[in-house]
Amino acid sequence: MGIAVEAEDLRRTYRSRTGWARARRTEVDAVRGISFSIERGELFGLLGPNGAGKTTTIKMLNTLLIPTSGRARVCGYDVVADTREVRRRIGYVFGGDRGLYDRLSGLDNLRYFAELYGVPPREQKRRIGELLDLVRLTGRERERVEGYSRGMRQRLHIARGLLHRPEVLFLDEPSIGVDPVAARELRGAVADLAAAGTTVLLTTHYMAEADELCDRIAVIADGAIQALGTPAELRARAAGRVGTREPTLEDAYVAIVQPS
Ligand SMILES: Nc1ncnc2c1ncn2[C@@H]1O[C@H](COP(=O)(O)OP(=O)(O)O)[C@@H](O)[C@H]1O
Ligand SMILES: [Mg+2]
Repeated sequence: MGIAVEAEDLRRTYRSRTGWARARRTEVDAVRGISFSIERGELFGLLGPNGAGKTTTIKMLNTLLIPTSGRARVCGYDVVADTREVRRRIGYVFGGDRGLYDRLSGLDNLRYFAELYGVPPREQKRRIGELLDLVRLTGRERERVEGYSRGMRQRLHIARGLLHRPEVLFLDEPSIGVDPVAARELRGAVADLAAAGTTVLLTTHYMAEADELCDRIAVIADGAIQALGTPAELRARAAGRVGTREPTLEDAYVAIVQPS
């Protein structure tokens, strides 16, 4: 046990110039003081509307963005002071189509990234085999990625993000644009991963997915955490608002981000 991810009053303000001759300074407070911690092996969900600050939060935790203030540790290492140590222990997967080589097979993509990530040659074959099994692509690995469905690509992305055996995996909207059958396979792969001990931070807009997968969920809106708890605890917040039926996580989410 122990803590895998710890955020303490994390803030990020984007400063940019806009308008004619870029003369106007604009500031966006994307994340306004977020604190939470994720246990080792926990599958933690970050839910919230577009623009809520989910990706900004993840990018501060995975060392791609420096916090404006506050602190964060991953596997005990500070994300600003110990960037290298953090990077060795994390994987990052985001939704969409970028980042894979279409003209190569799934297997050759994984071989390429295994080289890039410094996976020892003697271990590559076995590790790639295990990951293909985990993401349910065994048997399809010699086909070119250009013929893969969206769901297959996303699962290949996850395998790529796991090649160096990260302790913590950040999954930013992995199921975006994935059809329901493929999304179910993706959920299975994520659940297996967490069951095998990897800590997962997941963002998604699919409430049923979050409800099924997550041990705990933080709902974020406007750069701040609005609610944090197990799916059951969050659902209970919507009791009485939906008549006599059992409230769903979606009911709770709407009640939290759009209080009446
Ligand atoms: N590079 C950037 N420059 C300026 N503003 C940004 C940048 N990236 C994100 N933002 C703004 O920060 C806020 C949070 O964005 P983001 O973290 O991407 O939210 P989410 O992932 O929850 O949709 C939004 O208002 C967004 O427009
Ligand atoms: Mg985002």
